[in-house]
Amino acid sequence: MADAILGVSAFYHDSAAALVIDGEIIAAAHEERFTRKKHDSGFPRHEITYVLEEAGLELEDITAVAFYDKPYLKCERLLETYHSFAPRGLKSFLSAIPVWIKEKLFMRQMLRAEFEKLGCSNPVLLFPEHHLSHAASAFYPSPFSAAAILTLDGVGEWATCTIGVGRENGIEILRELDFPHSLGLLYSAFTAYCGFKVNSGEYKLMGLAPYGTVGSPQVEKWKALILSEMVDLREDGSFLLNMEYFNYATGLTMCVNEKWHQLFGLPQRQAETALDQNYMDLALAIQEVTEEIVLLLAKTAQGLTQCDSLVMAGGVALNCVANGKLLRSGLFKDLWIQPASGDAGGALGAALAGWYIHLDKPRKCVGQDAMKGSLLGPEYGAKKILKVARRYQAPHKAYEDFAGLCLDVAELLAEGQVVGWFQGRMEFGPRALGNRSILGDARHPEMQKKLNLKIKYREGFRPFAPSVNEECIPEFFDLDRPSPYMLLVAPVLQKRCKGLPEGYQSLPLYDRLYHPRSDVPAITHIDYSARIQSVNKEVHPKYWQLIDTFRKSTGYGLIVNTSFNVRGEPIVCTPEDAYRCFMATEMDYLAIGDFLFSKKEQPHYADRDYWQQKYELD
Ligand SMILES: [Fe+2]
Repeated sequence: MADAILGVSAFYHDSAAALVIDGEIIAAAHEERFTRKKHDSGFPRHEITYVLEEAGLELEDITAVAFYDKPYLKCERLLETYHSFAPRGLKSFLSAIPVWIKEKLFMRQMLRAEFEKLGCSNPVLLFPEHHLSHAASAFYPSPFSAAAILTLDGVGEWATCTIGVGRENGIEILRELDFPHSLGLLYSAFTAYCGFKVNSGEYKLMGLAPYGTVGSPQVEKWKALILSEMVDLREDGSFLLNMEYFNYATGLTMCVNEKWHQLFGLPQRQAETALDQNYMDLALAIQEVTEEIVLLLAKTAQGLTQCDSLVMAGGVALNCVANGKLLRSGLFKDLWIQPASGDAGGALGAALAGWYIHLDKPRKCVGQDAMKGSLLGPEYGAKKILKVARRYQAPHKAYEDFAGLCLDVAELLAEGQVVGWFQGRMEFGPRALGNRSILGDARHPEMQKKLNLKIKYREGFRPFAPSVNEECIPEFFDLDRPSPYMLLVAPVLQKRCKGLPEGYQSLPLYDRLYHPRSDVPAITHIDYSARIQSVNKEVHPKYWQLIDTFRKSTGYGLIVNTSFNVRGEPIVCTPEDAYRCFMATEMDYLAIGDFLFSKKEQPHYADRDYWQQKYELD
């Protein structure tokens, strides 16, 4: 009988479930995609049902359930923190503690009760620590038999950063940095001060940073202030934060605003107000400090482990600009980053820790990436798609062969149309990788504007990423390896880049943003870099085929890929989610499976009988 381990992350943010059978990753998905509630932190019952269904198992068949952190340790951290900061935190203590006592301290009972509702009265429960779950999610699916491990996030139980080593089926944690000294929370504090939401706006802050003026007196001064007043950084990358500047340990906000205002001479930016150069400079200052800390930690990890390869996870590992610099530093020969690096990925890590550490099973899949392209979520057949078409009386065209669909979609893209692309299994992790994506032509000078303002309804400064067929990387980017999960930023080749007009630096943000910088302007960032997703023919054959079809007609083996959602909503999960998102935006076409939906044409019901018969529609 196979051993199946169910990994669960829940009750904090980004709930998820993952299923590992005999060491193989079978399925994983985020609860938010099913419930349509962004960063849903509830018990992931939809996910659990889904991952079991995917494997054809019942809960009774599960060997153990692995939860992604140790609740008792977490509660201890909370109590000790309030104790050491008393009486400052009394107000938040009174409002937060009852939740923790009720929900966190009795986690084991809560989990048992939730599983009972699902019909399983007494599952074997494992509780690997939070950062061990992150470390396991980084090391076990990586292709390396041995690697240094760096985990960085806001906070788990106590740890905010660990350095470890993975060898065969074992993980050893060598160094740990503890709450409240946290690189993730430091970055989140700047996210909040720059007017973005904590836990989701960090990516926006990273996107804003390149608009800061590199090397300017203001940026240099602010970096120096961060490092002299807020962060006591040591040579090994460990640091202490000056908690006079931060409220998160005891309060319900991130920053002590008056202290920050005094330090930077800049008030907190109110959400949704105009962004001026000061906030771009502040974003750049904290981004550069973050990169410095990550590099020092990586150097320490290399020194402690003597490994050639590094693996990373935890929310900070999604900082792809820092990752790109780490790779180019040459500290490690190779780097692998868990695509679901946030807490959702902890579910997968917990399940893998259950298999390799708790059950002590030998390592699998060494030499190859075991994430299956992170395409681990549900997929939907033609029957489901046609039901949506009928329900919404949706104009659509059906294709008998996928190549025909690729030809039409490639042509539409080359005309400058924006196409929703929904195929196969949903991605696990925050990035859409070509199965729940919105696509456009990167060469089109207006594409970035169109996608930002008419489809994503979001801040225009946020950059788009290219999906490039793996073998075409050298034609576009200065990158010597694949980047399958959109987690590396690398320079666009100089020969493709264009110069800037005189007086460019003094132009307003959006004029700078929309100035074309290369022959693929929609994916070339302000600093001539791109956040790359490479597409492998074997791992991702349909998406590769579409891009290759586009290449054959245009000479460009690269397209724009942005996640299939609108601002504030989770990425679409089902064909119905996709169709509704399509209709709610100015997206031009939508491909789901072998069907192409449009807003313009009349329904293709002439062949309805044929399809009804073929897919046994009810
Ligand atoms: Fe975490």
